[in-house]
Amino acid sequence: MSNNLTANIIRKKYIEFFKTKNHKEIPSSSLIPENDPTVLFTTAGMQPLTPYLLGESHPQGKRLVNVQRCMRTIDIDNVGDNTHCTFFEMLGNWSLGDYFKEESIEYSYEFLTSKEWLNIDPSRISCTVFAGDEDAPRDMVSYNKWRELGISEENLYFLGKKDNWWGPAGITGPCGPDTEIFYDTGKEKCSDSCSPACDCGKYVEIWNNVFMEYYKESDGTFSKLKQKNVDTGMGLERILSTLSGVESVYDTPVFKDTIRKIEEISNQKYSEENKKSFRIIADHIRTATFVLGDEKGVTPSNTDQGYILRRIIRRAIRHLKNIGVEEASLSTLAKVVVDNYSDWYSVLKDNEQFIYDELAKEEASFNRTINQGVREFNKIVSRLDGNTIPGNLAFKLFDTYGFPLEFTIEMAQEENLIVDTKGFEEHFKIHQEKSREGAKDKFKSGLIDNSEATTKLHTATHLLHAALREKFGESVEQKGSNITPERLRFDFSFNRKVEKEELDEIENRVNDIINQKIDVTMEELTYEEAAAKGAIGLFKDKYNLDKVKVYSVGDYSSELCDGPHVKNTGELGKFVIQKEQSSSAGVRRIRAVLVDEEVA
Ligand code: SER
Repeated sequence: MSNNLTANIIRKKYIEFFKTKNHKEIPSSSLIPENDPTVLFTTAGMQPLTPYLLGESHPQGKRLVNVQRCMRTIDIDNVGDNTHCTFFEMLGNWSLGDYFKEESIEYSYEFLTSKEWLNIDPSRISCTVFAGDEDAPRDMVSYNKWRELGISEENLYFLGKKDNWWGPAGITGPCGPDTEIFYDTGKEKCSDSCSPACDCGKYVEIWNNVFMEYYKESDGTFSKLKQKNVDTGMGLERILSTLSGVESVYDTPVFKDTIRKIEEISNQKYSEENKKSFRIIADHIRTATFVLGDEKGVTPSNTDQGYILRRIIRRAIRHLKNIGVEEASLSTLAKVVVDNYSDWYSVLKDNEQFIYDELAKEEASFNRTINQGVREFNKIVSRLDGNTIPGNLAFKLFDTYGFPLEFTIEMAQEENLIVDTKGFEEHFKIHQEKSREGAKDKFKSGLIDNSEATTKLHTATHLLHAALREKFGESVEQKGSNITPERLRFDFSFNRKVEKEELDEIENRVNDIINQKIDVTMEELTYEEAAAKGAIGLFKDKYNLDKVKVYSVGDYSSELCDGPHVKNTGELGKFVIQKEQSSSAGVRRIRAVLVDEEVA
């Protein structure tokens, strides 16, 4: 039996069951959210479905089912216990304004307990139900349904918002009361008040049925949604450990091969003393493999998703060192993950080499400094007066040795020390300002050089910016621009993919302006004059300047800029968009070139 077959069996059974209840299967979305700038990763199966929960009609209908890749780093410090992972798969079924509480509970109960499906002993099941508060009433419908299905009064618990309310996934969004299903492991109660709300390990949550009929507004109030939805989520790893009768998700088939490989490369047996490091390595390498292998292709960096990825990879390396592994081994471990998962997630196979290459690069760069960094850390600790690592030293570990702040905090915790994180932030800010100043001197107006090729691409960037705003409105703002003599790369705020037809339209519009052979002019204006002219790029930090330079292309584009630019758009050649992709949450990236030919 292949190691992953058991996970496959559960995935398939789940999908098949809900198909018998007229649900349509939809594919897993990317781990990087497309439309939600409030979160970095897809943290729940419902997240990609947000527009439909709000009332858009879904092309597949009102009943959906899938297995969604998810990632949550909020509990990263708990990774290594029996239940937490940073990456997990969520089995989910949805009703978009179709069935509600009663059918949802019936389906869950049938799937869990029926002999034909998971065959779990009903006496092992406990459920929690929303107790009610000023925002939403006590959920008697769910309570009565569970009673009708045979769950005893002792196994039903009413709990408040903290335990029985789910969402929104970001700051605002759909949410609602839920009923959660727990499996009783048979352990003794830890106290008389032991309940599913307790984390002693007696009760393990296996499924969450959310009744999404509310929307959380930005002011914290709740309004009613247009429709009543059901959003359920069952963690694959949890149900797998429950069904296999093992205590921990790390003892299930999804991790078995990785743990074995770690034993092999470390020459150690997975045991009580090294359990935590083994589990952290196994978890983090799986997460890094899925993030790198994602269709959106995130790479390690110092911002956003890239930073989380970097932190996870580096933490895995540190724990490998803890168990005595010094040589590069991340790709060897990632291969186990790819082999285990690619029959279900073909995207991992498609990006296999990219995953290994990126891991090897990050490992090499971190390995160059980690030992020195650990020595520096130990030196800091040995000289410390008191129990706080000062912010400037934590910053030095970050800046010189590549230690993410959380990493230093974790090492400090192991020594019963704390880190002055406020001091760290202050140093971080000062450093950012300095490097901006430095960059200004090195690259005039952010250009790598003032060659003819980059100058042309620079003017083309202004035209692209103007065309995007013309098409999509003024909420489109420049988030980054990077120009080499070969191409331009432009990042802008926009919450979805730009469709092929739209890209064509934008490309044509830029070529149209080029074709009109319009003069590019420069004026030095006061901030107010520039504002009155409608120039873009007027950031508050420019307010104190006596004069600002504004480059204009006729009346098509007017932008604050240090130049240089071409004299006339006719010099540019043909503008061609090569690629459009996500850059980070809520930010898209366009890559374009100019080719030497007359625009027709
Ligand atoms: N959104 C809920 C959760 O993540 C149910 O899918 O638990």
